[in-house]
Amino acid sequence: MGACCSIPSKTGLHSHATTNGHSSGTEFSSMTTTTAATTSGSVGRRSQFFEAASECSNGIISDSGLILESPNLKVYTFLDLKTATKNFKPDSMLGQGGFGKVYRGWVDAKTLSPSKAGSGIIVAIKRLNSESVQGFAEWRSEVNFLGMLSHPNLVKLLGYCREDKELLLVYEFMPRGSLENHLFRRNEPFPWELRIKIAIGAARGLAFLHGLQREVIYRDFKASNILLDSTYDAKISDFGLAKLGPADEKSHVTTRVMGTYGYAAPEYMATGHLYVKSDVYAFGVVLLEVMTGLKAHNTKRPRGQESLVDWLRPELSSKHRVKQIMDKGIKGQYTTKVATEMARITLSCIEPDPKNRPHMKDVVEVLENIRKLNVVPDRSATKQTVSTSSRASPLHHQYGYRAGALGVERKRAAAGRLRVENEIVA
Ligand SMILES: Nc1ncnc2c1ncn2[C@@H]1O[C@H](COP(=O)(O)OP(=O)(O)OP(=O)(O)O)[C@@H](O)[C@H]1O
Ligand SMILES: [Mg+2]
Repeated sequence: MGACCSIPSKTGLHSHATTNGHSSGTEFSSMTTTTAATTSGSVGRRSQFFEAASECSNGIISDSGLILESPNLKVYTFLDLKTATKNFKPDSMLGQGGFGKVYRGWVDAKTLSPSKAGSGIIVAIKRLNSESVQGFAEWRSEVNFLGMLSHPNLVKLLGYCREDKELLLVYEFMPRGSLENHLFRRNEPFPWELRIKIAIGAARGLAFLHGLQREVIYRDFKASNILLDSTYDAKISDFGLAKLGPADEKSHVTTRVMGTYGYAAPEYMATGHLYVKSDVYAFGVVLLEVMTGLKAHNTKRPRGQESLVDWLRPELSSKHRVKQIMDKGIKGQYTTKVATEMARITLSCIEPDPKNRPHMKDVVEVLENIRKLNVVPDRSATKQTVSTSSRASPLHHQYGYRAGALGVERKRAAAGRLRVENEIVA
């Protein structure tokens, strides 16, 4: 491992500093170079990635996902994407992460060529921040992984642009934003039923990656990388740090430590040894966030409570204490049994020894059962504030949740009412 540890703190942005500016994420650079150098149309040859990862050992792939024999990505010019975003107009910005800014753009539904705002389909266009040293490696990794993998719980990459220093990625638009937005930047509690639905979707996405014969380790699992479509189906985004798993019976790959504080597994932080099960740890951290409504890492919390896992792990093994740590905003939406079963699976995902953590396909099964378990007899206990939005889905009506109301400062819970205060992302 190099001398770098790029794990950031509470912002949730990984600043991928590097000692040498080389790739952190991908092991098939020759294919990447060919891909990136292509100037028109789709990339049309069998890749090393396909060779490495194409056989599936457990059948998940034939259920709902596949590895494409060659990526079917549109290659855009910079001018195309300037047109699609009205010259990267600030008011079309969807968000910003460690890689750069993400803009809303318009393309033709059939050809994916840029179109005028309001005609065709909306896409999300990520533009690399030119100061990012690590940017090219992440861009390349994203093109390689997302260009080849297709699964309902992975975000779709539609195309890319590489022109001089400009590196961009074009994705399907995810209208409900990220899980992070809903859990932490809300002015109303995010309903339990949506939380568990999203957890299951994201778990399926990870199970797919881990089910490939040559496993893919995602390495950056966190709430901000779980994006949501119009019906809150979850899709994992951001494959910039993803790596092919170990080959030749090895248990792990050794690599520079990168990721986000609070989510990175302890063995990886301590040694740079990255296991498939390191993703399972991060998934457990997200489950804990889903249960508590609290961020994985927050330096604004009192001493000893900055790391959610270190702070709340002991509470997870007691039925009584689990009730205390559940997000108070969703009280009445889940049964005690559901809370204790959630605690149990969370606890096993965050086991300190990776060998003791479950496989993601088993986590999917457990979560699906937990979802079925949740028969709440009295729904009147759930706060009902039915949205008046014409775009509201049946889920909105069922749970009275307004997804549009993001970024609004939520009143902090009255002191003493909550044992654990809810948090708002700055
Ligand atoms: N495909 C998409 N559809 C809709 N919004 C998106 C899409 N991709 C990204 N966004 C928005 O842009 C924001 C920034 O995304 P980005 O992945 O760059 O950063 P991040 O996940 O917040 O942080 P990090 O760089 O650590 O991954 C997201 O929070 C999301 O709201
Ligand atoms: Mg992201």
